[in-house]
Amino acid sequence: MNDTPGPANPPIGDDHFHMAFEDSCNRVPVLLIHGYPLSNMLWDMQFEELSDMARLIAPDLRGHGMTDPTEPPYSMGLFAEDCAALLDQLGITGPVVVAGLSMGGYIAFEFCRQFPERVAGLILAATRAGADSPEAKEARDKAAGVAIAEGIEAIAEGMLPKLLAKKNYKAQPELVEFVREMMLETSEDGVVGALTAMRDRPDSTPDLAPLDIPTLILHGAEDQLIPVTEAEAMAENLPRAQLVIVPDAGHLPNLEQPDFFNDAVREFLEIFYEE
Ligand code: MLT
Repeated sequence: MNDTPGPANPPIGDDHFHMAFEDSCNRVPVLLIHGYPLSNMLWDMQFEELSDMARLIAPDLRGHGMTDPTEPPYSMGLFAEDCAALLDQLGITGPVVVAGLSMGGYIAFEFCRQFPERVAGLILAATRAGADSPEAKEARDKAAGVAIAEGIEAIAEGMLPKLLAKKNYKAQPELVEFVREMMLETSEDGVVGALTAMRDRPDSTPDLAPLDIPTLILHGAEDQLIPVTEAEAMAENLPRAQLVIVPDAGHLPNLEQPDFFNDAVREFLEIFYEE
């Protein structure tokens, strides 16, 4: 509740009185950046459970979900600038907590490089700091070829079994359908653009040590796409990181174990109300 007279609460009305008010926008802003080839539907369970303590802002990246595609190539720099432009448009000029899942994490690192003064904290989910190996770069080009020749359906079919923990993929057909639906919203330009951006992204490892901000790393114990060792390596290099391994979860821990994930985020966000 903002009941303190001051610059944030100037006198109002002809008789200049201070009016106490509540504004949900006063909650700590959290920019939620989705992975590839997903959309802001990824964060549905976080909107359900965390909106009472955080102002959640979750864009669809260009070419993904309901956002217009533009012609590829894209880059992490472009995605980060898009996110900053959205915050500008919303009038959010102060620092925010930047949360990124997988490719969203790659964008979060770029956002930190370009806009360090706009980052109060980081949540890194199912991601890694390193760049692509030569083999991984080749696989990006192959995947772009598949997307152009066969469409997003082929990309979705190939990726789906690897996105969730094996057990969840078998036991949760509704979740599988939800993720498939989300993937099918991605345009061909979005897929190709994201693949080029991931292929060409720089190694963020040297940037970790100077990132002296509260960081929460969340990683599914059964992630088939990015091994847990990547999360452990980030935790070792980041000065203020807390690593939480999410049991019974694969590459989408926020969807596979939403309660566990949300509890960890809630506890982490408390810091921003204490500081
Ligand atoms: C993602 O989930 O965003 C991507 O699979 C990450 C990647 O391919 O490196």
